[in-house]
Amino acid sequence: MSPLPWPESLTPRHFEAMQCVRDVLFQVGYEEKKLCALLGTKELTTFAERHRKMPLYLQRTRGDTALETLVRLFWLRGSVPSDAVARAVGTELMKDWEQIGLLIQDGDGLRAAVEIQPFGELFIAADWPGKTSQPWQVMGVAPTTRTLADFLIRRPGANALDLGTGSGALALRASRFHEQVSAVDCNSRAVTLAQLNAAMNDVRDIRWKVGDLFEPVTGESFDLIFCNPPFVVAPETALESTHSCQLADQLCQRIVGQAPEFLRPGGYCQVLCNWAQRKGEDWGERLRGWCHEQDCDAWVLHSHSEDAADYAFGRLGEMHDGPETVGRSLDEWMAYYERENIEAVGFGLITLRRGSGEKNWFRCTPILRMPPRAGDEIEREFALVDFLQTVEDDQSLLHARLTISEDVQIQKSLSPAEATREVYLWRDHGFGEKVGLDPKLLEFVKRLHTKRTLRDHLQEFIGTRELPQGRRLQQFLKVIRRLIELGICIPADNFSTQIA
Ligand SMILES: C[S@@+](CC[C@H](N)C(=O)[O-])C[C@H]1O[C@@H](n2cnc3c(N)ncnc32)[C@H](O)[C@@H]1O
Repeated sequence: MSPLPWPESLTPRHFEAMQCVRDVLFQVGYEEKKLCALLGTKELTTFAERHRKMPLYLQRTRGDTALETLVRLFWLRGSVPSDAVARAVGTELMKDWEQIGLLIQDGDGLRAAVEIQPFGELFIAADWPGKTSQPWQVMGVAPTTRTLADFLIRRPGANALDLGTGSGALALRASRFHEQVSAVDCNSRAVTLAQLNAAMNDVRDIRWKVGDLFEPVTGESFDLIFCNPPFVVAPETALESTHSCQLADQLCQRIVGQAPEFLRPGGYCQVLCNWAQRKGEDWGERLRGWCHEQDCDAWVLHSHSEDAADYAFGRLGEMHDGPETVGRSLDEWMAYYERENIEAVGFGLITLRRGSGEKNWFRCTPILRMPPRAGDEIEREFALVDFLQTVEDDQSLLHARLTISEDVQIQKSLSPAEATREVYLWRDHGFGEKVGLDPKLLEFVKRLHTKRTLRDHLQEFIGTRELPQGRRLQQFLKVIRRLIELGICIPADNFSTQIA
């Protein structure tokens, strides 16, 4: 059965009913942890995974508790006997939900017209994914939704824009941290479902707009723009919610290119991206080119890259069920990559910050681990690069007062033979990059004092001997700069972004 486009339009009755849905879900404990415990999974899985393990999950939810019934209904797309639904939510509500179209007769049982997924404290309704996707289909909370939610910079009082809002999950999440939120999607059904979700979660003040990218917000500017675009680099154009329908990664490039015009000075734009990596081409330089000539600082956080065949196979596995269908499409995808000279696809987050018109910078660094508050960490690292620009000449750096970040971890050499070689430093709240240091230098860094300049500290550390000069000084300062870049050493003054 293909998913029904419910609701076609919204009436006050839909809003009232969705508030009751929320109350019921809340009362029965329809939350991430409890669903995972019930299903025996570590996290809420994608629909493809749910579909694959459906018999197991139906077995695990075969009991008669209200939670099990609602999980079968809204998470497993099960047909549930009416009397079980009536026991779970009460006859009156069941009839009400049937009348508005949320529940549909299916033989002796009832099915839900949409899936409902817990997302932190929110409940998010979206379309059931089908074997063949429809252009109107609205994606539910996906792993990418969760990833971007973790990356989001939080700015109380800010005016934020969710570009390509889909189910509205991120806009609803952002409304908890930002004063004003606008959300745009080119799919009018997405905006309908997002409004329904706003009602279900009792969020009233988001501005919802239908249109192409920035067109509905022409002339406006924002402190934060975030976007989880349909970034899959694929030849097919059918699945609009995840595929760009544009050559390779042109949609991501277009978003990155247009966003600065809609940012206030100091405002951020965060775009989750997949980018094509072509044979013989430096993809970092290509991404630099996307950000080039914008009055913006740009930071690419590179999660990983996948070889073209692995990438295609992985994405196809999320869409089709049978190996034959996957095999046919895989040939088509690989032919497309050949034509486009694409050998791999990169995954990551591009964060732009609108600058002051002075010298802008571009960085590309790996994500080796995801920190607990990635959004705060991103803001912190932008502040550190700003600081580094103020101490570009050596004398300024020597006159800076630095301290060691409170979350620094130190890994000593493992064997006695290595004991005099390097120790490794990294930060608990960082993206996992380590730096190797000479143990003597570690002692120096550990003793940095907020009240002394780097120069005074160096003088005291080496005693009566003269300060290093020339190449030795350069090398020392290079290491210090790297430690600042990684947030291991931080300026002692005016460094407002503290570790959460
Ligand atoms: C991958 S989904 C993300 C949905 C949601 N933000 C999330 O993270 O769960 C991408 C969304 O972008 C929308 N979209 C695609 N192209 C667009 C365009 N040119 N303008 C506005 N929205 C677009 C799609 O309709 C879809 O809802």
